[in-house]
Amino acid sequence: MILIYPINISYFINFYGDNVKVLITGGAGFIGSHIVDKFLNNNHEVVVLDNLSTGNFRNISNNKNNNKNIEFINKDIRDNDLNLEGIDVVIHHAAQINVRTSVEKPVYDGNINILGTINLLEKIRQYDVKKIIFASSGGAVYGEPHYMPVDEKHPVAPLCPYGMSKYCGEEYIKLYNRLYGLNYTILRYANVFGERQDPMGEAGVISIFIDKIMKNQRPTIFGDGNQTRDFVYVGDVANANLMALNWKNEIVNIGTGKETSVNELFDVIARELNYKYKPIYDKPREGEVYRIALNINRAKELGWKPTVNLEEGIKRTVDWMKSL
Ligand SMILES: NC(=O)c1ccc[n+]([C@@H]2O[C@H](COP(=O)([O-])OP(=O)(O)OC[C@H]3O[C@@H](n4cnc5c(N)ncnc54)[C@H](O)[C@@H]3O)[C@@H](O)[C@H]2O)c1
Repeated sequence: MILIYPINISYFINFYGDNVKVLITGGAGFIGSHIVDKFLNNNHEVVVLDNLSTGNFRNISNNKNNNKNIEFINKDIRDNDLNLEGIDVVIHHAAQINVRTSVEKPVYDGNINILGTINLLEKIRQYDVKKIIFASSGGAVYGEPHYMPVDEKHPVAPLCPYGMSKYCGEEYIKLYNRLYGLNYTILRYANVFGERQDPMGEAGVISIFIDKIMKNQRPTIFGDGNQTRDFVYVGDVANANLMALNWKNEIVNIGTGKETSVNELFDVIARELNYKYKPIYDKPREGEVYRIALNINRAKELGWKPTVNLEEGIKRTVDWMKSL
């Protein structure tokens, strides 16, 4: 008996020069809305699917693209009646993104991030979508690093349900590649920051610090502040998504490779805002890794690199927050 696997038929497609119709789930959120801008500016057709649970319609209606047409679908990725007719590529960013919520409510986290992703994959299959680009988390799936910076071959050992649910999303996508030949690129982001990040959320330490200082409140650092993160600017992340249209079936870290401690980060922001006071220190948070920086050699081989450094990105974020 001869077995024919679909993977051989459509192992790799590319979209060079093509006008592509993309569905961006979570497109009204922080990162998703920058991807919307990037794709519109490159003359692609954009459909946004978002339930506006943490996102805001303002992110896609109130910016420089407001003269361009965005189709907006106010739906949940878990809905039964998602219509993906005519979509070439799904860029999947809708998610429960809060580490602490995932620790407190793992079922809720898994429901959105795992079952929601499976539901979307079923629609992708049903409507014959050619490719998925998936936002995973380099900060959460690897767990505490065995070596630094962490490359894509590093063992996966999440320390929180959020990291686990993102990894399950990755594995389901790879399963749909094996079963149905679905093309994919999985992007494992470092800590993304920049304009439109919600300072009221829990995820964006940079916008939270800026917001507190601008309100004359002392920011809180959880732990001793020597924990490190790899901060990557959102415009560079949007660019990675555009380039990923033509990347093949693989997992790619998107970060800077640089470790910055939370104390150093606080100092950069304090300097930018001329803030003279010290932060408050509180006990460390459950589920968070102590150190992380991503090895981005693979992304560089594919032609991507970060272009906006931490200081410049912080300036842009401050300017945006002052303009609100
Ligand atoms: N911000 C980071 O540093 C970071 C790092 C690694 C990975 N990521 C991933 O990037 C993606 C975007 O994150 P973000 O920081 O822009 O967060 P965000 O909260 O701003 O964006 C998420 C968007 O998804 C929407 N959404 C949530 N649940 C939904 C559902 N069930 N159905 C439809 N829409 C839903 C929200 O309304 C929001 O617009 C997420 O998948 C996140 O896991 C983010």
